[in-house]
Amino acid sequence: MASPIIAPFPAGRLRRLRRNANIRAMVSERNLTPANLIWPIFVTEVAGAEGEIASMPGVERLTLDGARRAAERAARLNIPAICIFPHSDQASRTDDCARAWDPDNIGNLAIRAVKEEVPDLVVMTDIALDPYNANGHDGLVRDGEILNDETIEALVRMALVQADCGADILGPSDMMDGRIAALRAALERHDHKNVAILSYAAKFASAFYGPFRDAVGASGRLVGDKKTYQINPANRGEAIRCVARDLAEGADMVMVKPGMPYLDICRAVKDEFGAPTFAYQVSGEYAMIEGAIRNGWLSRDAMVESLLGFRRAGCDGVLSYFAPTVAEMLA
Ligand code: PBG
Repeated sequence: MASPIIAPFPAGRLRRLRRNANIRAMVSERNLTPANLIWPIFVTEVAGAEGEIASMPGVERLTLDGARRAAERAARLNIPAICIFPHSDQASRTDDCARAWDPDNIGNLAIRAVKEEVPDLVVMTDIALDPYNANGHDGLVRDGEILNDETIEALVRMALVQADCGADILGPSDMMDGRIAALRAALERHDHKNVAILSYAAKFASAFYGPFRDAVGASGRLVGDKKTYQINPANRGEAIRCVARDLAEGADMVMVKPGMPYLDICRAVKDEFGAPTFAYQVSGEYAMIEGAIRNGWLSRDAMVESLLGFRRAGCDGVLSYFAPTVAEMLA
């Protein structure tokens, strides 16, 4: 970037262009619209589990009917996409994760329900085994090891069923090596060539996922941690290599996750590759901001400001639990 030329004071007065709302609007460098938002929702099959998630005040586990209503709400607010996360019956979670590719698992029922209700709402899904795994991991586990290649086969089965159910965008969040190429090849082979992949390419082993694991009922289950597959928060170069690899394997879009502590990665990814770049403002980020707002420590403007930060960092869009609230504020 050329270095900006500022006339010396008093010729240069930067406050001239901040004088009133219209002047500020004229020189605003970034915008935030509902089109920049993807709304993650939780859908449960467990009677009694619907309702507010304690560590994510304001976010609810929905029934299938609730998912239909959320789809209507998204459409009304011009939010282009929702992302579905399943909360499955604890008793149905097994070590072989077989329910992950059951066409009638709660995630797949939700895809069909939403597509029936609002056919052109973009439906994104999550590809990872954790919602159906007895031990809470994203991959198959044998003797304490998270198996890479065997997990990919399971993910492919899971993905094809989701595509059959009408998913528009698959979001592999598992961080196994080689999964993007395997998914892309399987989609081509099975007549799903237009199903897009938004790879959770730069996904860090983060403490900010805590409330999400409560939301999907995985907190008490996780054996150990996810550090053998998710990226060390200290590593920027590795994150860039993950994104390069996933794009080369056929990802259409890429994601950085979490968001706010990783805005440097967002900027680097956008500058380096120019591909459609998304960030996930994860459950822990939501909990911090929402918790502070509810305590009266922050104003509601913090929501919009946090999302604008992603836009400034080069993101095309953000997965955010604030999506419907912010879309309402922007309307
Ligand atoms: C699971 C998955 C996680 C999130 C999205 N997909 C949790 C994890 O990796 O443990 C977290 C999202 C959030 O915290 O909002 N593969």
